[in-house]
Amino acid sequence: MKEWLAPGLVTSQLTRSGEDRSYRRMPPWPWKMGQEVFLQNRRAICGTKGGQSSCVCCVRRDEAVVCGIVGYIGYRNACSVLLDGLKRLEYRVYDSVGIAVNNSKKIEIIKEASMVSDLERIVKEIAPSGTQGIGNARWANHGGFSVVKAHSCPSRDKHFILAHNGIIENCSELKETLLAEGFNFTSERDTEVIAQLLMKFYDGDVLKALTSLQGQLKGSYALAIVDEEDMDHIYCMRGGFPMVLGMGEGESLCATDTLAILPYTKNVISMDDGDIAELSSQGIKLYDAKGSPLQKKNFFIDWDLSSAEKRGYPHFMLKEIHEQGGAFRSTLEGRLINGGVDFSGELALNEEVIKRLRAIHLVACGTSYYASLIAERAFERWCDLDIKVDVASEYRYRNIRLSPNTLAVFVSQSGETADTLAAQRRARELGAYSLAVTNAQESTLASCCDDVLLLKAGPEIGVAATKTFTGQIAVLYLLAIYIAKMRGTLTPRMEKELIDELIRLPYKIEATLEREHVVEELASNFSGSQSFLFFGRGISYPVALEGALKLKEVSYIHAEAFAAGEMKHGPIALIDSNVPVLIVAPKDSLHEKTLSSIKEAKARRAPVIAVGFDGDEQLANDASHVLYVPPTREEFSPFVTVVPLQLLAYYMAKKRGCEIDSPRHLTKSVTEE
Ligand code: F6R
Repeated sequence: MKEWLAPGLVTSQLTRSGEDRSYRRMPPWPWKMGQEVFLQNRRAICGTKGGQSSCVCCVRRDEAVVCGIVGYIGYRNACSVLLDGLKRLEYRVYDSVGIAVNNSKKIEIIKEASMVSDLERIVKEIAPSGTQGIGNARWANHGGFSVVKAHSCPSRDKHFILAHNGIIENCSELKETLLAEGFNFTSERDTEVIAQLLMKFYDGDVLKALTSLQGQLKGSYALAIVDEEDMDHIYCMRGGFPMVLGMGEGESLCATDTLAILPYTKNVISMDDGDIAELSSQGIKLYDAKGSPLQKKNFFIDWDLSSAEKRGYPHFMLKEIHEQGGAFRSTLEGRLINGGVDFSGELALNEEVIKRLRAIHLVACGTSYYASLIAERAFERWCDLDIKVDVASEYRYRNIRLSPNTLAVFVSQSGETADTLAAQRRARELGAYSLAVTNAQESTLASCCDDVLLLKAGPEIGVAATKTFTGQIAVLYLLAIYIAKMRGTLTPRMEKELIDELIRLPYKIEATLEREHVVEELASNFSGSQSFLFFGRGISYPVALEGALKLKEVSYIHAEAFAAGEMKHGPIALIDSNVPVLIVAPKDSLHEKTLSSIKEAKARRAPVIAVGFDGDEQLANDASHVLYVPPTREEFSPFVTVVPLQLLAYYMAKKRGCEIDSPRHLTKSVTEE
C-alpha cells in the first residue's frame, strides 16, 4: 500500500498567486481532490483539510529523497557558513531546512522553513553569534524536519541535536523496543528514534554511545550531532550515506557534499561506513566502529568554486554541456607525456599486472554504463583481452568468474552509487583488481578500489550527466591506450595518431556547440511529440542509448533506443508519421548500413533526424533533418555525436517547461539500491 506523508499545507492564496517558489509546475487552480501536482518537483496528491477550500498535499514515502547536511565549528559565524553551505546544496531537492547553532551558551534551533532564503530571513532576526552548528536541508521521509532536540527522555537531562540524512529501515522495531523501555516520542521521525537511542546509550561518554548506536541502525544514514552540554565538538557518523570532513586553520567542517564546504577548505577527508568523527576547532579525530582511533588520507580538491555556479546560463545542464571542451582538456592534462599516455604517476596498476591481465570488466549504472559500452569498443579494438560490460545491479548478483588477472573497472561520476559500490565489493572479494573511474576523489568508490582514475571534469550539478559522460569516455579511452601499449598491441605510430586526434577533440566539441541554434530550432518542431525512437550502429549504438536516456530524463518524453540492425526485428512496428526517429549516423565503417535504416524509417513516413559528419550530403538527401558535427576518427565519433543529443534533450525539456536541473524522481547520486 502506498503511504502518503504530509509535508505541509498549501493555501489557495499561495497556489493561485504562485508566490511560493517551493511549489513549482503547478497545474491551474483550483486543484481537484486526488489530483496529482508537483511539489518541489516531487509527485504529490491533493486533498482537503476539514472540508475547507485549502489544500493538503501529501508526498509518497517511497519517493522520499535526501538532501544534505553541513556542520561547522571554528571562529567564523556559524550561521553564515551553514546558510552558505545549504545554498550550495539547494540543487538537491529538499522541502525543509533547519539549523542548530550555539548562541550565548545554548543551542538555538531555527527550522520550519521551506527554502534557505526563508531560513535566512528568520536567522537575521535572531542573529545567533555562535561559531558552532549544524544545518540540514531535507526532503521529508518520516515526517519532515530532521533537526531534533532529543530531550524528550524524562529520566535524563542531556541534550543532543541531530541532523540526519537517509532512512533508518529498522526504525519501527527500534521504536517499539524504546517505547517498551519507557522512552517517549514526540514525533514520527526516524531521526527522533536515533536521538532517543543515543540517549539510551549515553552515560557521559559520547564516543561510546555512538559506537553502540552504530551497531543498532540499519539503513542508510549520515549524521551530524551536537551536544548542548559540550559545545566544543560536533560528531559525525556515516552508514551508507556520504559524509566528507573539511580541515581548515582553526576550523573544521562536515558535509554530505564537498561543494558545501569548498569555500572554506579544499583539504578534505572522506568518511567510510562505520567511521565516527569528532570535530573541534583544533582539528578532526577519527574512530572506527569499535571506537579505536583511525588514520585517514586527506585529499586536496582543486575544483574552481565558480564552476559550481551558473555563470549566466539558465540551467546547470546547459552550462555543463558547454563545458565539455574544457573538461576534456583537463582530463587529458598531465596524462599525455612525450606523445603517449602516461598513468605511471597515478596508477599502482603496473606493467607486470597489466601483462598478466586476462579480462577487463566495466561495471556501471545509467549514463556511466553507456559510457562503458562506448569504451568497450575501444578496448576490443586496441587490447587483446576479453571485455565484459554490465550494469552494476546485474553484475553484483551474477555468477561471474573473477581472478587477480581480471581488471574490474567501476565507472561512476559520483562514486556513491549503491549498486556500483556493491558490485565493487563483490569483485574485490572474488579477487579482481578494482579500479574506480570517477569525478569524486573523496567518494566511497575511490576509497574502496585498488586504484583510481579521476575525470577532472569539475563539479557537475545538473542531475542529468553530460560533461562527466564525455569525461568518462575520455578516461576509459586513455586507459585502453595505456593498457594496449603496455601489452604491445598498439604500435607507437598508432598511439600517436590516436593522441593527435584526442588533442583535437575539445575543439571539435566546441565547434559542435556553436551550432546549438540549429538544435534549438529543431526542438521547437518536436517538443509536442509523445515518443521518440533512437537508433545507432556499432559505436553509435550506445550513443543512441544515451541520447534516449537524456531525452526521457529531462523532458519526460518516452524514448527508446535500439541497435539500428534490430529495427526490423520489432521496433519498426512502432514507426509512423507521429514518431520521430533519430539516427546517429557518422561516416564510419557501418555507414552504408545506417543509411539503409534511415531509408526504412523514412519509407514509413517517420520524420527522421540524422546526426552525421560535415560534408555527408547523402544524409541531407535521405533524412528529414540533419544535425552536422565535425568529422573525426570512427572510435572518437561519440564525443561529437552525443553533443547534439544532449542539446536536443535540453531544449525539448525547456520548451516543455520541465525542471531541467532536477528532474522529477531523480537524484544526483543514487545511494540506495
Ligand atoms: C543520467 C544519470 C544517471 C547516472 C546513474 C549512475 O543522466 O545521471 O543515469 O548516470 O545514476 O550514476 P553515477 O555515475 O554517479 O554512478
